[in-house]
Amino acid sequence: MKHKIALVGFGTVGQGLCEILDKKREYLLSRYSYDFDIVAVSDVRFGTSYHIEGLHIPTLLKDAHNGSFTQHLQTWDAEAMIREAEASVVCELAFTDLQTGQPAISHCIAAMETGKHVVTSNKGPAALAYAEMKALADKKNVQFLIEGTVMSGTPVLNLAQSTLAGATISAAKGILNGTTNYILSQMEEGMSYADALAMAQDLGYAEADPAGDVEGYDARAKVTILANVVMGMNLKLSDVKCKGITEITTKDIQEAKSSGARWKLIGTVKNENGHISAEVSPEMVPMTHPLAGIMGATNALTFSTDLMGDITIVGAGAGKIETGFSILTDLLTL
Ligand SMILES: NC(=O)c1ccc[n+]([C@@H]2O[C@H](COP(=O)([O-])OP(=O)(O)OC[C@H]3O[C@@H](n4cnc5c(N)ncnc54)[C@H](OP(=O)(O)O)[C@@H]3O)[C@@H](O)[C@H]2O)c1
Repeated sequence: MKHKIALVGFGTVGQGLCEILDKKREYLLSRYSYDFDIVAVSDVRFGTSYHIEGLHIPTLLKDAHNGSFTQHLQTWDAEAMIREAEASVVCELAFTDLQTGQPAISHCIAAMETGKHVVTSNKGPAALAYAEMKALADKKNVQFLIEGTVMSGTPVLNLAQSTLAGATISAAKGILNGTTNYILSQMEEGMSYADALAMAQDLGYAEADPAGDVEGYDARAKVTILANVVMGMNLKLSDVKCKGITEITTKDIQEAKSSGARWKLIGTVKNENGHISAEVSPEMVPMTHPLAGIMGATNALTFSTDLMGDITIVGAGAGKIETGFSILTDLLTL
């Protein structure tokens, strides 16, 4: 059977996924019997392309580089494409809006209502409407898969839900935002907060408006997803207390260093005998803790379990190929 994939959004992640799929087509077929066509792509910038027998991936990538699609053009917007295209799965890879979750929530609903699985790295639907998305997926007998929403392709959700199945997870605690960890690492080298932020922006880690990262909102969305998906809670973003790194000074960082600790922006969710707490906040982590050694843009997460004690996973939290990989893993799960 050939999987028919439709993509909404053809930016960093969409293109990363297509590069992987094009390069690994033979491997995916021989190793996993996974055969596919990219049948549709819709992006506000490049237009919409659709062909039931599949689009030519190198042409899509070349067209994106040149600024607009050229093959099998359609007048559909993303939602019309989702409803009309004959596809088995929609990959929602458009921008994240943590206020409303839109238009991604509407995209996911349209896909599932028309019997298509959803795979997404977009935090909006997962952080704001996970229960609703999951209920619709169950009702329509499709899947809503979101590995890329927390730590990109580093498999934290799959680890918790599949590999650790049977163990009770009582806490998840981690460095969930690479930009802030990079800034704090640079400040430890003596750079001011403003210079470290400017450098993170130059390297493409931080947006022109860095509030989502430095105020902790991105990490808060990930804590909410971990709480709801991994620990079976029903938290809203506003249930997670949130403080960013904007008040941390180089003096604070040096003082922590001399006392054998490091400041990290930590996201935590805990269930202590039914008492639930969830927050994002800068913490002085002792150098002996596994999270203290995580420097630069790397992410890490520790799950506390009843049967295995603490398990820490370290890896990329963003990136074109890394997040493209998260989508691939969900496609293979389907
Ligand atoms: N990049 C990462 O490392 C990473 C990691 C984890 C999660 N994510 C999440 O994955 C998603 C994709 O990220 P990305 O880095 O690929 O973003 P991106 O580079 O900004 O690409 C998103 C693309 O979607 C287009 N788009 C926006 N609204 C659309 C709509 N309504 N219909 C169709 N296309 C639309 C954008 O066009 P315009 O640019 O013209 O708006 C852009 O071309 C985001 O939700 C992001 O938060 C990304």
